[in-house]
Amino acid sequence: MANDVYRLVYYSRNRMTGTPDDLAASIATILNTSQANNGKVGVTGALMFNSGFFGQVLEGPQAAVESVFERIQQDDRHGEVSLLAFETAPTRSFEGWSMGFVGASVPDAARYGAIVQDSGFDPTRMSGNALFETLHHLALDDEKLAAA
Ligand SMILES: Cc1cc2nc3c(=O)[nH]c(=O)nc-3n(C[C@H](O)[C@H](O)[C@H](O)COP(=O)(O)O)c2cc1C
Repeated sequence: MANDVYRLVYYSRNRMTGTPDDLAASIATILNTSQANNGKVGVTGALMFNSGFFGQVLEGPQAAVESVFERIQQDDRHGEVSLLAFETAPTRSFEGWSMGFVGASVPDAARYGAIVQDSGFDPTRMSGNALFETLHHLALDDEKLAAA
């Protein structure tokens, strides 16, 4: 249906090299571009970077999500782009985030490190729903931090 919200979940492997500062600058550039582009077509979502992997959720009208994902797949700053889920969702989960970066703050990074150790976090072994839930929880935590 034309008004349905679609949710797409994927992970990919980082292909960018350089210092952590170089990487942070590259991710900031990606986020700026994403926020500008996604905002124009009604796509919202969240991006995370961890242990060399990106995980991303895109949500919005089907055609808009598809065309954003087409561009993302052709980007050689990452590779092995693996689609985990693309289906209708009852509602948007990242309303107001044209593209949020989650897990960026220092307490989050520490906590995320704990998740990595506790669960052996590896997106290549996660279901689309598990990766979505991870991003959503981190986003809710980040919103709480921002509001504090
Ligand atoms: C991990 C990753 C996530 C990205 N996410 C988005 C996104 O959500 N929206 C977007 O427009 N571009 C995203 N990009 C960038 C696109 O691949 C592409 O460079 C960009 O859309 C081109 O935009 P431009 O034609 O306005 O320069 C992402 C790139 C990477 C590596």
